[in-house]
Amino acid sequence: MKLLHIVGARPNFPKLAPVHRAGQAAGVTQVIVHTGQHYDEAMSAGFFRDLGIPAPDVNLAVGSGSHAAQTARIIERFEPVLLQEQPDWLVVYGDVNSTMATAIVAAKLGVRVAHVEAGLRSYDRSMPEEINRVVTDRLADLLLTPSLDANATLVAEGESPEAIVFVGNVMIDTLLASLPRAEATGYAASRGADGRHIVVTLHRPSNVDDPERLRLVCHALSALAETRPIFFPAHPRTQQQLRVLGIDLGQVMVSDPLPYFEVLDLVRGAHAVVTDSGGLQEETTALGVPCFTLRPNTERPITVTEGTNQLVSDLSALRSLVEGATPVRPPRPPQGWDGRAGERVIAALLAHSRAH
Ligand code: UD1
Repeated sequence: MKLLHIVGARPNFPKLAPVHRAGQAAGVTQVIVHTGQHYDEAMSAGFFRDLGIPAPDVNLAVGSGSHAAQTARIIERFEPVLLQEQPDWLVVYGDVNSTMATAIVAAKLGVRVAHVEAGLRSYDRSMPEEINRVVTDRLADLLLTPSLDANATLVAEGESPEAIVFVGNVMIDTLLASLPRAEATGYAASRGADGRHIVVTLHRPSNVDDPERLRLVCHALSALAETRPIFFPAHPRTQQQLRVLGIDLGQVMVSDPLPYFEVLDLVRGAHAVVTDSGGLQEETTALGVPCFTLRPNTERPITVTEGTNQLVSDLSALRSLVEGATPVRPPRPPQGWDGRAGERVIAALLAHSRAH
């Protein structure tokens, strides 16, 4: 069996790592194509190094752009690569533009598509990722889900139950495997993080691109920072907006994006996380750390119903919510968030290859 893995943006890399490792252990032939959607050292190469993923075989170097331009560039540059590689499966991860764009190319060329993290829905089409999720799932031949609610969603959308396999959460494989190395960085202690601290990440256009919204969010964060240390490793999109708008975040400690292990060291011992990231909603649930998500909806409802996540739409309530937060000890992660999901992805691919 030959797999062609697609990655492009930061959240893809911790998802690829355990699947690639399991593929190696099973003796599968594997090719990694990086679209180049993310390209900064801190957003891309650092993750490959830290997570032990081999360097990509091909980098399409598409870079940044509007959704249409970026998607179109990926489609155009990926087609000859796929024609040359002729894999048995294209394996795509998550919901970024690289996921959808390459699934379109494969579907048109008759190459089977496996979608890791299938079946998540926010039902909010103003979110670019929701469009990517729906299109990718419609085109995929094998729908590999992170939680059982996603199976039900896909069946309700008319997908064949034979094409849906619950594998669990691959990103949690990476999280669990990385905890000792995160602790070994000593990063949190070196920055004075004392367990009362908050970790903030924000990068969604809905929070960051609208100046009025970003000002309100930052105002709420600076109020929180009066009583607790706040670490805010900021995405390039967010840094740019903060700079352009000249927003003063008071005592909030804003930094460049941090390496995976350093973020994990901060998050694992935090009092709470405030975020709009999909990944952190899941990671905090797995760690038992309270999470406040600054969004009106989530495509990961299991982090609310079974985890530590809470959606916050009223920013004036943020401070009292955060102050009242208590961790879940020991953490009680959802079914299949157990460190073995990558192996189940490979097992499902092998089983479905045989079935064809
Ligand atoms: C993308 C994904 C989003 C994911 C996020 C994680 C889509 C539609 N969005 O959003 O789902 O949660 O990645 O980070 O696929 N930039 C840099 N250096 C980089 C990459 C980006 O400076 O290495 C800057 C550029 O100014 C760029 C902006 O960030 O225009 C946004 O990057 P882009 O990949 O378009 O979207 P993200 O917000 O990163």
